Amino acid sequence: MALPLLTRRARDSTPTSTRAAEGPPELAPPRPLVAPRPPARGWAGRGGGQAGYVQAASTWRSTTVQACGLWPWSAGTGSPMVGVPIGRNIDTNAPVCADPISWFQRANLISNPSAFVLGKPGLGKSTMVRRWCAGLTGYGTLPLVLGDLKPDYVDLIRALGGQVIELGRGRGYLNVLDPGEARATAARLTGTAAQRVSAEAHGRRHQMVASLVSIARKAPPTDREETILDRALRVLDERTDHNRVPVLADLLQVLREAPEDVRAVALDRGSIDRYRDITEHLESTLIGLTGGGRLGEMFSAPTTTPMRRDAPVVFDVSSIDEADTDLSAAALLACWSYGFGAVNNANVLADAGLEPRRHYFVVLDELWRALRASRGLVERVDALTRLNRQRGVGLAMITHTMSDLDALPDADDRMKARGFVERAGMVVAAGLPEAEMTKLNQVVRLSRTEQAKLVSWTDPPAWDAIAQTESAPPGQGNFLVKVGGRTGIPVHVDLTAAELALNDTNKLWHEVSRSGRVDDLIDAEGVRDLVDEGVADAPVNVAADDDGPPPPQDVPTSDALTGSTP
Ligand SMILES: Nc1ncnc2c1ncn2[C@@H]1O[C@H](COP(=O)(O)OP(=O)(O)OP(=O)(O)O)[C@@H](O)[C@H]1O
Ligand SMILES: [Mg+2]
Repeated sequence: MALPLLTRRARDSTPTSTRAAEGPPELAPPRPLVAPRPPARGWAGRGGGQAGYVQAASTWRSTTVQACGLWPWSAGTGSPMVGVPIGRNIDTNAPVCADPISWFQRANLISNPSAFVLGKPGLGKSTMVRRWCAGLTGYGTLPLVLGDLKPDYVDLIRALGGQVIELGRGRGYLNVLDPGEARATAARLTGTAAQRVSAEAHGRRHQMVASLVSIARKAPPTDREETILDRALRVLDERTDHNRVPVLADLLQVLREAPEDVRAVALDRGSIDRYRDITEHLESTLIGLTGGGRLGEMFSAPTTTPMRRDAPVVFDVSSIDEADTDLSAAALLACWSYGFGAVNNANVLADAGLEPRRHYFVVLDELWRALRASRGLVERVDALTRLNRQRGVGLAMITHTMSDLDALPDADDRMKARGFVERAGMVVAAGLPEAEMTKLNQVVRLSRTEQAKLVSWTDPPAWDAIAQTESAPPGQGNFLVKVGGRTGIPVHVDLTAAELALNDTNKLWHEVSRSGRVDDLIDAEGVRDLVDEGVADAPVNVAADDDGPPPPQDVPTSDALTGSTP
């Protein structure tokens, strides 16, 4: 309909050559009537009402279902909504989801499922990694904390229904000759797969014994000793009944019995005296490892709690004294060796189609302590950061600063440790001092704004003079998530009520300390009897001397009393 109308109009309005010749001169086309529009800040001049400050429009986030009518003023989110929700973007308030496994596996954003988390103490690094552990458990990944030195993860893993394996002097043992599930796994397989599992378990146990010897002696075993250990372990396996797990004392026994196979690699040239001379040093180290030497019996007694490969697991090594660096190093190595043995078994079974595929999220918290404890640990982490993708393992490494890595005594180790950050799929930085920026910038590109942000997050907390408390540090829970050279995502981790209950690192400080005399406490608890029998000493009450304040009214339980009696 419209077309003929237009055509007729066009014909009518088109002057013929005769009309053009005869008609009046052409008029200029009428100017369109457009109302004048004010500039962005309003009319200038008197009475114009020009605004000096233009308020930014409020931004709201919503799903397209709820806010579909607000087009065209909508914008997509700046970061992918894939992974564990960790908090809100500090600049835009947008929710941020990120974790190394989801960003590698589902979002394809990073080339390696690993994260390096660094920041000053107390700013929430472990708390954020705990969030990852909880979230990833929801996605079906199993967190594996191979050596919790604080402990930061025990409560969480327990709450997730996982396994807490306690290790320490007199608390729990981890037999380094324990093949774990390897025997059962090999029995379910055939051919090369079964051989691979047995060979891997053998190599792991051999490496672990050699590491213990290195730590005990503070020097690595010689080539000949390594070969002797390897052969002695094989002899031990052949001799041991399949239902029994050998311990270090059995290995020592094999060494002393001098079987032909072991003598052959010891090159004793047919002389038993020469064999004894060759193996003397190794024998004395093994005696130290089995008979309560510096490392105690932690690795020579049967394993107290066998590890499960189908549940979140934490090895609680927090009872080991911080100053006991050798034992810490040995315990961490043993946990890593045992833990990766379980991961290997799970992978082999999944490859053979016998079990579902399981992914693990390995947490190495307080990495600085592990790296300083022993040289062997740097090598282990180095290998782990290169192989974790092939092993189907996500990795989170946590330390304070880049200087921790630079403080390693050996130049080779320093280079390797720097590689941990370079190879990490994502780097998550909390507040860091200014001096760290140059070092960090060499491995992750940071803009000046990002650097200023990180430095500002280290500001000290304010002192609330009225409440008589210190407020939380301003940078607590703030992180910058960096992936390669991309702009970092600043995020604040908000804790949920459930997490706050699990995050309590001040459990021992909720009750005010009391210094009442045991005599003044109720006899009904039987405390007086204990003192009278000499089981517990009566504490000296400094506060409640003759003219001191009256004894406290609150009566602690007998447990608390006997526990706190000096
Ligand atoms: N996002 C947060 N919101 C509120 N409190 C937090 C948050 N993150 C951490 N905290 C609190 O801060 C304290 C220290 O946290 P956390 O142990 O995670 O720090 P860290 O960086 O791992 O310290 P360190 O370097 O000493 O191991 C804890 O009491 C924790 O509850
Ligand atoms: Mg921590």
